[in-house]
Amino acid sequence: MTKPVFILNGPNLNMLGKREPGIYGGTTLGEIENDCRQFARNSGISIEFRQTNHEGMLVDWIQEAAEASSGVIINPGAYGHTSIALHDAIRAAAPLPVIEVHLSNIYAREPFRHQSMIAPVARGMICGLGAKGYTLALQALVQL
Ligand code: DQA
Repeated sequence: MTKPVFILNGPNLNMLGKREPGIYGGTTLGEIENDCRQFARNSGISIEFRQTNHEGMLVDWIQEAAEASSGVIINPGAYGHTSIALHDAIRAAAPLPVIEVHLSNIYAREPFRHQSMIAPVARGMICGLGAKGYTLALQALVQL
């Protein structure tokens, strides 16, 4: 894997650690990034770790990833439930492998979280495993 894996985080994920820890856990996004960096070092790959609260920025990054990355891990936050723009961007980036991650089990929560716009165009999804989901997704990408 010569190109980096892009790890993209959507809205409100910069608040991890303080935000509803009973649902999302006490791990900060910085700590998740450190775990991913350590996993990447041990696996001989590189990563590009980013967060934004803006939907269009995620679209720009997916378009960039189509050229500049070997795969994408995305926690789209709430945009995962609503964004046709993200669905289309991932579709247009094919055959780029994309893994959707959610810290919480979105299917065990409110009905409005049960739909994912990303899942139909993702290679796979990991949800409900907390911060561990990110390194599990990295492991999956390395093996794919
Ligand atoms: C989330 C789940 C979403 O429903 C929510 O809007 C988030 C976080 C998760 O990681 O569990 O912001 O993506």
